Amino acid sequence: MKRVLVATEKPFSKMAVDQIRKVVDEAGYELRLLEKYKSPSDLLAAVADVDALIVRSDKIDCNVLESAKNLKIVVRAGAGYDNLDLVTCSSKNIVAMNTPGQNSNAVAELVFGMLVYGIRKQYTGAAGTELRGKSLGIHAYGNVGYYVGKIAHGFGMKVYAYDPYVSADRMQSHGVEPVNSIEELYRTCEVVSLHIPANASTVNSINKSLLSLMPKGAVLVNTARKEVINEAELVEVMNERPDFIYLSDIAPDNADVFKQQFGGRYFFTPKKMGAQTDEANINAGVAAARQIVSFFTSGDETFRVNR
Ligand code: 3PG
Repeated sequence: MKRVLVATEKPFSKMAVDQIRKVVDEAGYELRLLEKYKSPSDLLAAVADVDALIVRSDKIDCNVLESAKNLKIVVRAGAGYDNLDLVTCSSKNIVAMNTPGQNSNAVAELVFGMLVYGIRKQYTGAAGTELRGKSLGIHAYGNVGYYVGKIAHGFGMKVYAYDPYVSADRMQSHGVEPVNSIEELYRTCEVVSLHIPANASTVNSINKSLLSLMPKGAVLVNTARKEVINEAELVEVMNERPDFIYLSDIAPDNADVFKQQFGGRYFFTPKKMGAQTDEANINAGVAAARQIVSFFTSGDETFRVNR
């Protein structure tokens, strides 16, 4: 009997776990759960004899993969797979997958939750500003970017996007204005929403030269990854520009600096919350379970991210 471990330091909702269990049970596999684990050693022990692994942002590094002697497949129930050591997966013939699109709407809705909170002076009673009529720049027009654009239209925003991998026709068919360079996006838009993955070419890439281009009343909203921000340079920009607001779904490493210097101009979720809805948990968790079943039953490798 195949053993499937759901290892989630930040657990799925109960509804999602029940539905994952149903998929795994129907396949005749055994479901194991490791939730809210406190130490990496708990994860090392739990993976020891499992055939398949479902995770969220849990770090699956070479130590975990070394301990997982029977592992054939790991599915990141979500979009970004920067937490998976793909090189080690490939060297051990472990298939790594993600579940693209399944939690995108949840992330996009949080973008606007944070935006309204941020520009309404965090509900302190002071007069804030509105989104209507403002320019929104979507930095990377993938699944989340698409939903962000849709919602932004409802707010009456002008929507722009930069993504060298997405055709101008596709963006235009969604009422989104493509721009030709990252610089043009930041120069044009008061609000920029980040949706780039964290990888070798994006880490630290959101820097002072880019952020300084943003017009007065700039708001940077980051539901992507904290690693893509050059934190030292963001701090410089916020020091130089009292109009600049930074909103992020997870605190930066230098959160203390923000607390000391930029009160009222930043907001950080205490834990990454973008995908933390019942719906997104169910969509991503069930998709992960189904992908595992179809991998074992028919060798289906759709959504494989390592080669
Ligand atoms: C993702 O990449 O899918 C999101 O960042 C969600 O991450 P989480 O599953 O850890 O909440």
